[in-house]
Amino acid sequence: MTIREVLRQSASMLSKSVKNPKKEAMILLREWLKKDDIFLAAHDDFEVNDIDGFFEWVKQRAEHTPLEYITQKVSFYSREFIMKEGVLAPRPETEILVDKTVELIKEYKASRVAEIGTGSGVISIMTALLAPQIQIDATDISRKAVELAKLNAQKFGVEDRIKFHLTTFLDGVCAPQILVSNPPYISKKERLEEHVLNEPHIALFGGEQGDEILKEIVLLAKKLGVLALACEMGYDQKESMKSFFEDNSIKNYCFYRDLSGLDRGFIIKG
Ligand SMILES: C[S@@+](CC[C@H](N)C(=O)[O-])C[C@H]1O[C@@H](n2cnc3c(N)ncnc32)[C@H](O)[C@@H]1O
Repeated sequence: MTIREVLRQSASMLSKSVKNPKKEAMILLREWLKKDDIFLAAHDDFEVNDIDGFFEWVKQRAEHTPLEYITQKVSFYSREFIMKEGVLAPRPETEILVDKTVELIKEYKASRVAEIGTGSGVISIMTALLAPQIQIDATDISRKAVELAKLNAQKFGVEDRIKFHLTTFLDGVCAPQILVSNPPYISKKERLEEHVLNEPHIALFGGEQGDEILKEIVLLAKKLGVLALACEMGYDQKESMKSFFEDNSIKNYCFYRDLSGLDRGFIIKG
């Protein structure tokens, strides 16, 4: 089959399950052939080999497997990270949390950072790359996440500056100067798209309201006396977090928005 025919057939297989079937067919074929979009556009008569293996990928996607689990890669902060099933694929808005963390490191001239819920490791790894003087402790309760984060740290040559811990919150980890987290913050009541539900639920759901883990992290940061805490949160959690800060006499806080203008996180300074 030629590229033209393969693209047409795979877009049709994807049409009922994804929003942009043509685009996703292109992404899958580009990854399968290890070529770029320009090659696909310029060689539509090129014969595709091992077509059954490729259509197996398309079938998985049509059955709502996240694209990143099929291609085993994800782009974050313009870098290509390794991705594996069982670990949450990072979202573009989390790049802002990396910037906020690096700003805090500079402001406080910090050398010790910790991250709760590292997942694929993208926040800690990007922070280590952008702030070369720091040491990071990164935790996760998922063994698959910790293993993947270690692989990614090796890929980017920062494995000697990030210590990964299979633990909850910061159990067994020394108190950091700066704490960062993009914890699970979705309410159990929220209805999610099928492909999102194929990602690990311990990475998605933060409790009945969704903000329970965020609140635990805020209290932990206060107890440990960190210089600053930066967290991502849900677009509709600003009011509940604000009352929580006020109820707990936390005064020096601010919220930030993502590129769509939605409330997306907060920073607390000690
Ligand atoms: C929303 S994901 C974020 C992953 C990654 N930091 C990112 O931004 O793409 C949340 C992560 O927190 C982990 N997690 C959930 N509860 C945790 C806990 N009590 N302590 C440490 N990590 C936890 C999950 O396994 C998951 O990897």
